[in-house]
Amino acid sequence: MTTTAPAAPARPAGASAVLPPLRIGPLTVDTPVVLAPMAGVTNAAFRRLCRESGAGLYVAEMVTSRALVERTPESFRIISFESDEVPRSVQVYGVDPATVGAAVRMLVEEDLADHVDLNFGCPVPKVTRRGGGAVLPWKRDLFRDIVRAAVGAARPRGVPVTVKMRKGVDEEHLTYVEAGLTAQDAGVAAVSLHGRTAADYYSGTADWDAIATLKQAVTDIPVLGNGDIWSAEDALAMVEHTRCDGVVVGRGCQGRPWLFADLAAAFAGSDARVRPGLGEVARVVRRHAELMVETFGDEGKALREMRKHMAWYLKGYVVGGEARAALGLVSTMAELDERLAALDLDQAYPGEAAEGPRGRAGSPKRPVLPYGWLDSRELSDTFARQLHEAELSVSGG
Ligand SMILES: Cc1cc2nc3c(=O)[nH]c(=O)nc-3n(C[C@H](O)[C@H](O)[C@H](O)COP(=O)(O)O)c2cc1C
Repeated sequence: MTTTAPAAPARPAGASAVLPPLRIGPLTVDTPVVLAPMAGVTNAAFRRLCRESGAGLYVAEMVTSRALVERTPESFRIISFESDEVPRSVQVYGVDPATVGAAVRMLVEEDLADHVDLNFGCPVPKVTRRGGGAVLPWKRDLFRDIVRAAVGAARPRGVPVTVKMRKGVDEEHLTYVEAGLTAQDAGVAAVSLHGRTAADYYSGTADWDAIATLKQAVTDIPVLGNGDIWSAEDALAMVEHTRCDGVVVGRGCQGRPWLFADLAAAFAGSDARVRPGLGEVARVVRRHAELMVETFGDEGKALREMRKHMAWYLKGYVVGGEARAALGLVSTMAELDERLAALDLDQAYPGEAAEGPRGRAGSPKRPVLPYGWLDSRELSDTFARQLHEAELSVSGG
């Protein structure tokens, strides 16, 4: 990607001024930065834009273990990688140890992934209602068995497994320290913590103190911090505050894939930052759309998927309401070109207005749980049946 700002200075391979390279099992990630898996966002097209900007680990959208085992076309779309994408990082969501084990075995035996991340962070009511996602680690035996099944299946091929989780159900029912230790014992290669509970949803600010606490407790494997990194400065601040071994960036790069260039520069000790004018942003939007057409093989679908990205890309730039609305409705590349050309493309970077929070936010929600879920830390047969349904209700991400 060309940018209006100076590129990050070259740095010696494997060196970061701020942190050493991140080691995830046999994988070495020179810049200890991870693109957080985001369903509907981190597909091959978006990952490519991010990869072109920076150097880190880029996790694909979540796929359910059941969809993988059933070999659904959508699951294969999610785990398709370009030939130059290394490592191929797949995130699996599952609630049943046997199915998760089978899915991971398939991924490694068929050489479809170089890294498997397990998702225990989903706060969506339709998932937590049946005991899945962020509330699953409350059932410590189930959590342990899922993680062991995944690690056991991946080990023969030397593929590292990591765990991504939230703090717990709510402040009264925290699980992250115990889950981190369990994951470490089970042989995972790293754990990441999103510093929110399921009840927090995406509200308020992420609790970086919890990341610091986890880092102190889990000493044998890298601990990655996640939540509310909107800029390279935030990433440095998180490392400073928590001593985490790397950062995981989600919403902050929505509409700003060049954030990975800022992060690479910051971790190399440089204060060079990408400050694109609107003309440059328009070029990135066009490239994103082109890559989406390649990814989906269907212009209509690709452009529909692009619509939500428009507001993120345009945040802070002076673009009239009508032009914004029109860009949010494009359905062909020709229409996109026409709408982009009509913008005031000479506009310089608007500064702070283009930065800061974007994407999902909202207010805390009392997590919807299976009746009696919190009464015991062990799984009963009734809950085991409900969990099976929890996976069926998650649609590929
Ligand atoms: C649109 C969207 C989709 C997401 N999908 C997933 C997912 O599939 N798997 C997952 O582990 N987390 C998912 N997340 C959570 C992010 O990975 C990340 O943990 C969260 O957004 C907090 O990081 P941030 O403050 O940098 O955004 C999603 C978040 C968003 C906003």
